[in-house]
Amino acid sequence: MKKVIGITAGIAALAGLLFGYDTGVISGAILYIKDQFRLSSGAVESVVSAVLLGAVFGAAFSGSLADRFGRKKVLMVTAILFTIGAIGASLSINIPIMIAFRVIIGVAIGVASYTAPLYISEISPPESRGALVSLNQLMITCGIVVAYLVDLALTIGDNGWRWMFGLGALPAIVLMAGMMSLSESPRWLVGQNRIEDARKALGRIMDKHRIEGEIKEIQKSLTIKTGSWKNVLEPWVRPALVIGIVLAFFQQATGINTIIYYAPTIFEFAGFGSHKVSILATVGVGTVNVLMTVVAIWFIDRLGRKPLLYIGLIGMTLSLGLLGLAFYLPGMMSALKMLTVLCVLFYIASFAISLGPIFWLIISEIYPLRVRGRAMSLATLSNWLFNMLVASTFLTLTEKLGKAGAFWFYAVVCVAGLVFCYLYVPETKGRTLENIEDFLRKNKGLRAFGRM
Ligand code: BGC
Repeated sequence: MKKVIGITAGIAALAGLLFGYDTGVISGAILYIKDQFRLSSGAVESVVSAVLLGAVFGAAFSGSLADRFGRKKVLMVTAILFTIGAIGASLSINIPIMIAFRVIIGVAIGVASYTAPLYISEISPPESRGALVSLNQLMITCGIVVAYLVDLALTIGDNGWRWMFGLGALPAIVLMAGMMSLSESPRWLVGQNRIEDARKALGRIMDKHRIEGEIKEIQKSLTIKTGSWKNVLEPWVRPALVIGIVLAFFQQATGINTIIYYAPTIFEFAGFGSHKVSILATVGVGTVNVLMTVVAIWFIDRLGRKPLLYIGLIGMTLSLGLLGLAFYLPGMMSALKMLTVLCVLFYIASFAISLGPIFWLIISEIYPLRVRGRAMSLATLSNWLFNMLVASTFLTLTEKLGKAGAFWFYAVVCVAGLVFCYLYVPETKGRTLENIEDFLRKNKGLRAFGRM
């Protein structure tokens, strides 16, 4: 692989880093914002979920924007929105203004979560596409841990949260400058009939003698007309559609972002007194998330997707069960702090080797070429919708069901997820995308797809 492809993918994946940073940074910031503005649980949930509302919106339009204006321009506009949002949120004088700027950041995240992997996959040679798609998830987890570290470094009094938000502008500016120096996706250029530009773009990422062949290949694939929404709903595509949406549900409803956004809050529930110590424990959570994502990338093509999903979901069920127990048994109070940290670490490790990367990977593999763009954006949109639902109800759930009840609730969802994966999720390891598409065309239904 040419070095320039790595650099290009690395720059585009800064969008993943921003996705992670801007969703993770809230966990520490919220402790201060809550104190300073005396927020109720409901108001806290609104501040946290504002980004998600924007992301739902952004994801809904991402497909058509990226097709109309090109991947490069869209990512550049995204970088501008990230910058405006970060600076605006850091200067907010009240909660409505803060929410408005966090919604703007959310729109950027929603658009980027679809466009960046798309751009990366279009500039990558087939032999390294899988690793480069997962690079995006790795960058998300890195963004989260950077946010936690920034949160930790800025536990400096009441206004630290302003810097936590504001620093998000830096990677956004780097993304903007970096994208300016990159070429547009050759695939999109060919689609626009800008063949000369496509030649130039390809010249930067591959050897000269491969260029004409590559242009022919792209032209050939473009003769397959892009399907409409009606095609997405055709019966033979349905199993894949169901898998994408239901996996999005399980990725979110098993509670990952209650940990990512609220880990310090959970540690304070468990009796950690200072904001600083809670955020420190959270840095541990972010680090385990990154490391286990690397482990997942290593195993994903060796062990396969399904075994990792089983291991991960069993681990998540056990850790959530135990976490609930820690909050349930008063006798365990003194041991509670350590036990909570261990459970949360075990939980995050289990997520990071399974549902974390595998959801994004599977939705890039199972859809027939003609409807891939639309179906992927639908799965992405569902992911953000479920994310918002969970983040905006977590604190209320802990008030209604009790803390133990809330974690047990997510544990039950994990068990349902395990059964779903066992029955219906196909093993895509080692299969070509055409092979998966052929299988779907035989239209044998959801259950058969799971046994593929
Ligand atoms: C999920 C995010 C989550 C992150 C944690 C991603 O795959 O989509 O919602 O915050 O993983 O690492």
